[in-house]
Amino acid sequence: MRKIQFTETVLRDAQQSLIATRMPFEDFEKILNTMDKAGYYSMECWGGATFDSCLRYLAEDPWERLRKIRKAAPNTKLQMLLRGQNLLGYKHYPDDVVRMFVAKSIENGIDIIRIFDALNDIRNLEVAVDETNKRGAHASGTICFTTSPVHTLENYAKYAKQLENLGVQSITIKDMAGIMGPQEAYDLVKAIKESVKLPVVVHTHCTTGLAPVTLLKAVEAGADVIDTATSALSGGTSQFATETMAYTLRQLGYEVDLDDKVLKEVNDFFKPVKAKALETGLLNPVVLATDTDALNYQVPGGMLSNLVAQLTAQNKLDKFEEVLQEVPRVRADMGYPPLVTPMSQMVGVQATQNVLLGKYKNVSKDVRSYLKGEYGKAPGEINADLLKQVLGDEKPIEGRFADGLAPAFEAAKAELGDKAKSDEDVLSYIAFPVQAEAFFEKRDEKERNTFKYTIKEV
Ligand code: CO
Repeated sequence: MRKIQFTETVLRDAQQSLIATRMPFEDFEKILNTMDKAGYYSMECWGGATFDSCLRYLAEDPWERLRKIRKAAPNTKLQMLLRGQNLLGYKHYPDDVVRMFVAKSIENGIDIIRIFDALNDIRNLEVAVDETNKRGAHASGTICFTTSPVHTLENYAKYAKQLENLGVQSITIKDMAGIMGPQEAYDLVKAIKESVKLPVVVHTHCTTGLAPVTLLKAVEAGADVIDTATSALSGGTSQFATETMAYTLRQLGYEVDLDDKVLKEVNDFFKPVKAKALETGLLNPVVLATDTDALNYQVPGGMLSNLVAQLTAQNKLDKFEEVLQEVPRVRADMGYPPLVTPMSQMVGVQATQNVLLGKYKNVSKDVRSYLKGEYGKAPGEINADLLKQVLGDEKPIEGRFADGLAPAFEAAKAELGDKAKSDEDVLSYIAFPVQAEAFFEKRDEKERNTFKYTIKEV
C-alpha cells in the first residue's frame, strides 16, 4: 500500500487564491494547535503574497506571524514559496540578499522552501537552493508547468535531473493556472520519476475543474505528495479539498495518514471564516465556480480577466478574440515563456498592443528587459527579428543577471538606521520598501501609545 502525503495550503495559496490573502493571524491562530495534529506532510503558510499582505493590509509583521505559527505548530513542517532569485517579487535581487532571506526564513521557522523560477531557468534557483541546503532545510526544486513545443517530457525530465544535481530534496510540479490535464500529469510525473530518485509533489488549482482527476492520475503515476486545501476554502481558484482527496485515495487502497477527526475540526473552524468573507464580499462566489475558458484558450484565468479589463478600459473589447489569437504568436516570438507572473502580463500587454497599434510598434520596458535576458534565459529561441528590432546592436546578457548586481543588504540596513529593529526588518524593507516603512511607522506609534498607557497605569 503506497502512502500519499498532503500539503495543506489554507494558510497560503488557498486564502491567496480566494480572499486576496487577507486572513489576519487572529483568524487562524486558534486552530494552529489542532492543525498540528492532522498529520500533514507540511503546512504551506508563508511566502507568495502573504508577506506583502501582512505589511500592506494587515499591519502584521510577516516574520512575527511565522514565529507565532512555528510556536503553535511545533510538530508540522512549515513550508513557504520562493521565486528563486526574485524572492517574493518580480525583479532579481543580489545574492547576499537572497542568502540572507533564505537564512532568516529558516531561522524563523521554515522547514521546506519551494523554489521556482518563472522561466524555469535553473541559474535563478542555484543560490536559494544552496543556502537552503547550507541551513539544513529542505529545498523543493519546482517546475512551472506550461505547454509549448519546447516544453517536452524530455526537457522536463532533464530539468528535474538538473534540480536533483543541484541538491534539492524533492521535485514539485507547479501548475499555477490549473490547466494540467490528467494525462499530462500522468506522463509528466512518470517522466520525472524515471529521471530522478526524489519524491514528487504536485500542485494545481481547481480553476478549470481538472484538479481532482489530475491529482488522481498524478498519484497513479507515482506522485508522493499532493497540495490540497481544507474543504471550506477549497475549489474554484483554490486547491481541491483535503478531505475529499483523502477519502478518495483511501477508497482506492492508498495509505493516508491524516486524522479525519482533526480534519473535520479544521474544516469546522474555517467554515465561519468563509461565511464572514462571503458576507463582507471579500470572497466573491465567482472565484468558487469552475471556469473552463482557460482550457479553450490555453491561457490562465487570471490573464484572461486582465485582458478583458485592459480592452474594456480602452473601449476595445470587440478585439478580444483577435488579442487571444495574438497571444500564442507573441509567446512563440518570446521563446515560449510559461504564462506565469510576470510573463503572463508581459505577453498579454504585448499581444494587446500588437493588435491595437500594429505588430511590435510599441514594446514595453519589461519586454525589452526580458529580451535582454534580465529575467533569465527564455525556454526556446527568441525571434531573431524581434531581438534585432528591440535591442539593435546591444547584446543580450550572456551570464546570470544577478552576477552583475552589487550586494545590497548592508546598504539597506544603513539606509534604514534605527527604523529597522532587526535584520528581518531590513529584509521586509528590501522586499517591499514602501509598505515596510509604513508598517514600521505604525508599529512605532503603537509602541509609543503602549508606553504612554503603561506610565499612566503606574
Ligand atoms: Co498555486
